[in-house]
Amino acid sequence: MSEAREIRESDGKLGVLMPGMGAVATTFVAGVELVKKGLAGPVGSLAQLGTIRLGKRTENRVPKIKDFVPLAEMDDLVFGGWDAFPDDAYDAATLAGVLEKEHLNAVRDQLKEVRPFPAVFDPRYVARIEAAHEKEYGSLKEAAEQVREDIRTFKSEHGLERAVMVNCASTEAYAQPQKAHFDLEEFEAALERSDPSISPAMVYAYAALQEDVPYANGSPSLAADIPAFVDLADERGVPVAGKDFKTGQTLMKTIIAPGLKARMLGLEGWYSTNILGNRDGEVLDDEKSLKSKEVTKLSVLNTILQPEKNPELYGDISHVVKINYYPPRGDSKEGWDNIDVFGWLGYPMQIKINFLARDSILAAPIVLDLALFLDLAHRAGMGGIQEWLSFYFKSPMTLPELYPEHDLFIQQMKLKNTLRAIMGEDLITHLGLDYYE
Ligand SMILES: NC(=O)c1ccc[n+]([C@@H]2O[C@H](COP(=O)([O-])OP(=O)(O)OC[C@H]3O[C@@H](n4cnc5c(N)ncnc54)[C@H](O)[C@@H]3O)[C@@H](O)[C@H]2O)c1
Repeated sequence: MSEAREIRESDGKLGVLMPGMGAVATTFVAGVELVKKGLAGPVGSLAQLGTIRLGKRTENRVPKIKDFVPLAEMDDLVFGGWDAFPDDAYDAATLAGVLEKEHLNAVRDQLKEVRPFPAVFDPRYVARIEAAHEKEYGSLKEAAEQVREDIRTFKSEHGLERAVMVNCASTEAYAQPQKAHFDLEEFEAALERSDPSISPAMVYAYAALQEDVPYANGSPSLAADIPAFVDLADERGVPVAGKDFKTGQTLMKTIIAPGLKARMLGLEGWYSTNILGNRDGEVLDDEKSLKSKEVTKLSVLNTILQPEKNPELYGDISHVVKINYYPPRGDSKEGWDNIDVFGWLGYPMQIKINFLARDSILAAPIVLDLALFLDLAHRAGMGGIQEWLSFYFKSPMTLPELYPEHDLFIQQMKLKNTLRAIMGEDLITHLGLDYYE
């Protein structure tokens, strides 16, 4: 049995701050408000609905996760954020068109109160949006100071001790770590001279870490995953996790690929295509933003299948991912996957998946779980990269010398074992030989 960590009490309310208050963020906020009123259930949230086995199978101890670890209550969540448009959460949710009028009107008053701070915006990073609600600043350092001030204002207006940040802003142009991103001093000097390699997503992440606000990145943009921020998070003991919510097609990929691999079935190719018509889709219609998304989507198969270990099964896979903006679809995305597999003696077979998903409906419970688990980690004294939250991401953050785990079931086991470890319970290996001795 591991030793239980000391966990600070979750007194008072918890602020959830979101850069980007579009479809995902408002579907999350409206959903939590509906659940608070008992008008809907938190489907898709492991933190709310999931159970966790403790001890031996004969002990019959299987509490709900929320009864096992001291999470903040949904009733105690309050919301804020930043957006490039001034709409409150009710208007933004109406525009996003994800939830029915009837649902939105039931929580209209609560949504009307959630108004974004002006954004730190840079059209070089998001080309398809013309911002109508942005900050004025001289240098990016000033921009970061303003975001930090917003965080303090939000906390004092709501009387909060604690807040977390989940990035739900549009996907930025693809970027890789540059010189200014490798250490904090360099980064801060680059902020002062408004170095073009610093994106708005990085400014928000920097402000969060400096304010001791745990941070998760739901978008594929480069943000907390630069070395300077990993060091900063470690130094300040602030949890970070990312990136890119694992929702529709990639979720399916990380469910099915481990199954094929478990049975040693071969793979010749995996062709994935999507149509989507929301603002996320419009932003992704720009080549530079699309590249960020494609990179996170493509990375998963190799680490699950490990072609170098089984070249005869996975050595020559053709993996293609396409995303097309198609306005009539709105938030109701459609994904097609054609999977060319082969079995005994190399005989070919095909699997077809046609997922008529709802993007933000799949993403909203992830925002909730991340907010609750990041806050728990912080109170339990766990700073830096939270690999156990890989479960929620297409491109999980790890130390540079580690490869990320993409297999959903390994991720789930890692998450639950981390909760057991935090609470001083035995880790579960599923060995089970002792039952037969
Ligand atoms: N299933 C999913 O919905 C899903 C899955 C994985 C990742 N994501 C990512 O989550 C993010 C949000 O998706 P969405 O569907 O809500 O998109 P959205 O376009 O509806 O919302 C994004 C919001 O971010 C705002 N924004 C853009 N730049 C900003 C800035 N610099 N500061 C503050 N706000 C800014 C936009 O004005 C917009 O309101 C995207 O990056 C998307 O790729 C979504």
